[in-house]
Amino acid sequence: MTLHFNDETFRGDYTYFNSATAIRRFPFPFDRDSYMYSVNIEPHPGGPAGSPFEHAFDVDEHYVSEMRDRAITLKADPLRCQSLPHMELAGWDLLELIMTAKARDYPALFELHRAGDRWHWINRPLGIEQRFTFLDPATLPCGPMEYITRQAQGDFALLDARDGNLWMDAGMITSQADWSLDFDVGMNFFEWHAPVPKAGAMGVFHKALKFLNAVTQEQSYRRLNWTMTVNPRLDTSPETYPQWGPEKRTVTAENVGTRQFLRVELQTFWRLPRSNALAFPIRCYLANLEDLCTQPKWARRLHRVMRDLDPDLAEYKGFAVNRPLIVDYLAPFDDGAPTSPGI
Ligand code: HEM
Repeated sequence: MTLHFNDETFRGDYTYFNSATAIRRFPFPFDRDSYMYSVNIEPHPGGPAGSPFEHAFDVDEHYVSEMRDRAITLKADPLRCQSLPHMELAGWDLLELIMTAKARDYPALFELHRAGDRWHWINRPLGIEQRFTFLDPATLPCGPMEYITRQAQGDFALLDARDGNLWMDAGMITSQADWSLDFDVGMNFFEWHAPVPKAGAMGVFHKALKFLNAVTQEQSYRRLNWTMTVNPRLDTSPETYPQWGPEKRTVTAENVGTRQFLRVELQTFWRLPRSNALAFPIRCYLANLEDLCTQPKWARRLHRVMRDLDPDLAEYKGFAVNRPLIVDYLAPFDDGAPTSPGI
């Protein structure tokens, strides 16, 4: 697939858009007409072709603009990227994982040449060429995690594995659904999940942690999570809430189709070889209601999910205020026909 990179913004004038191809390959997250939290983890083996699951790390038409948006966020707030001192080795592991995957999966865009620990990295879309010594931080312009995640779409948490738990000891977090790395850094799996309603009592987090502790280097896994965001904004952090929170109140019956976005996170899980840390990339996809409703089966299902969602989840996800407008917009697309399980 030849990629054309959109020139677009995720703030200010919000010129973000999805091509027809991007809409067709959007990772619609609902496999039935209702939604509740569950341990929805599955293997991430690659494929099908053209889907966002085809490659280890999906590179799409938003790549260059997303990286520009990340740089803007980091300039304003360097604490969106943090790595506790013991996590540097995990940062190198992550750099290796991403560089080898991108060079293998997108050879026209990325190249990696290795002669022992002398590495040569070429990133054509961003115009970067770097020769460096693997595991020698003095040969990169910044730490290894920061270096590679400034060139990879999505957020990245690096979890240290110790005492039977996972600890959020490093991360590059600039496109989060209203949570803060600066607040969560150093917390464990149960602590950073504490604000989530219902899931703890359902046993979701105990089961999920047990699963993640057993993940090996041989197989990566994935899950989808979702929320709703007004305007195509990547940086919906608590730190910048005064900039985007008030935008929720600007949605009307006339503009809800274009201003209300379904925000889907493709989350993957990778055991890292040297550090034994777990890498947790969180790739964000945005599509507005108008674009989603070009696919009749998505429109029908989204209407049912939004209409019937537990109010505690709508409140936690931050869209309770606009839920009636969303449901009213989607209702005419629902002809009442039965849907079959699966996406
Ligand atoms: C939400 C991190 C894995 C289920 C969250 C939040 C964070 C987070 C920071 C936001 C909490 C807040 O409101 O402050 C992570 C990390 C993971 C991980 C770093 C990797 C180890 C999982 C897994 C599950 C899960 C395996 C399995 C079910 C959830 C759910 C929510 C959540 C259900 C609420 C999301 C929503 O309603 O939008 N996670 N998580 N997480 N997480 Fe995780």
